[in-house]
Amino acid sequence: MAIERTLSIIKPDATKRNLTGKIVAKFEDAGLRVVASKRIHLTAAQAGEFYAEHQARGFYGELVAYMASEPVVVQVLEGEGAIAKNREVMGATDPAEAAPGTIRKEFALSKGENSAHGSDSEAAAAREIAFFFSGLELVG
Ligand code: CMP
Repeated sequence: MAIERTLSIIKPDATKRNLTGKIVAKFEDAGLRVVASKRIHLTAAQAGEFYAEHQARGFYGELVAYMASEPVVVQVLEGEGAIAKNREVMGATDPAEAAPGTIRKEFALSKGENSAHGSDSEAAAAREIAFFFSGLELVG
């Protein structure tokens, strides 16, 4: 399998509850490596642009307000099949449907406040990494 990079966000519900280390440990234990990392507080405009593809969905306003409500930790994770592996470690979007041992099963509060985001395709990973990081900030 190819070495890939994917964009991960530790979301406001998790940073607020001091879960950053526990979440990063799950990714590292699965063989993913953090090659870029920063803690930032998104503006509503930035959160809205990042999630622009969901603009027509009923939960968009709530999603944008939530993502701008507290700091987030944005990271680039690298490893074999990193895009799928990251999503496997996160678990299903809805914690009620997430598998045991996944981040969302253990930590998420709801479908909206679901502790982590991960890119869902190669194209999304490229766009999302470039949204937050310059090439100089990716240190493998
Ligand atoms: P994420 O993987 O970051 O991608 C889009 C986000 O929208 C998703 O995680 C959830 O946090 C959020 N989301 C998806 N469905 C719903 C929903 N029904 N209600 C509220 N938020 C949702």
